[in-house]
Amino acid sequence: MRVTFKVYRYQPEVREDPYYDSFSFDAEPTDRVLDGLNHIKWHLDGTLALRRSCQHGICGSDALRINGVNRLACKVLIRDVGSKITVEPLMGCEVIKDLVVDMDPFFGHYRAVLPYFMNEEAPPDRERIQSVEEREAFDDTTKCILCAACTTSCPSRWANPGFLGPAAIVQAHRFIFDSRDRGAADRLSILGERSGVWRCRTIYNCTRACPKEIQITKAIGEVKRRIVDDRS
Ligand code: SF4
Ligand code: FES
Repeated sequence: MRVTFKVYRYQPEVREDPYYDSFSFDAEPTDRVLDGLNHIKWHLDGTLALRRSCQHGICGSDALRINGVNRLACKVLIRDVGSKITVEPLMGCEVIKDLVVDMDPFFGHYRAVLPYFMNEEAPPDRERIQSVEEREAFDDTTKCILCAACTTSCPSRWANPGFLGPAAIVQAHRFIFDSRDRGAADRLSILGERSGVWRCRTIYNCTRACPKEIQITKAIGEVKRRIVDDRS
């Protein structure tokens, strides 16, 4: 099938303002949008800048706005988005070049929620035992690949760039509800501040955007409830 990619370009070294380039070529309906972008990069315009690595929905590096929706380019088939495909960088982020955005603020918010196991107690002789039910409490949020599709689709984050955002809360949730961890109070204190969970207005954009189908709004609700319960 003949496809036309309309691609956002920003090349500050040659042109001050952003613009769009169009590329038409033949592709298979079962090709992924990332295959099309790679075709452009390798055969039509080597100056196109984009991030990608694993090509299998694992690394989270190729989240882009595809026909206006945040998605992983390596997970979207061309037949599912049609022959006219507009590809733009994630919203609410500073564009460095073309489809590459500055991810430092995103990862800064990730680090702010202490996204690692915390437990100063001496380890038992064997592993720290956990029941099936205890593991289930945070199973969903272990799936996050830090692609930022959720955080960059959040209107509350667009309006308040200081908002930690859904991805950081998902990462915090993964440890707050881990029965082996002892850092929940520290994380809940951070998430209870002005830039934390109360900036969430339950819009659900994050849940719709997540390529791993994590129930993000539900997880944020569980963190909110935990903060309230711990205060009462
Ligand atoms: S929660 Fe989902 S959308 Fe958000 S960063 Fe993780 S994998 Fe990506
Ligand atoms: S290239 Fe790794 S998730 Fe798409």
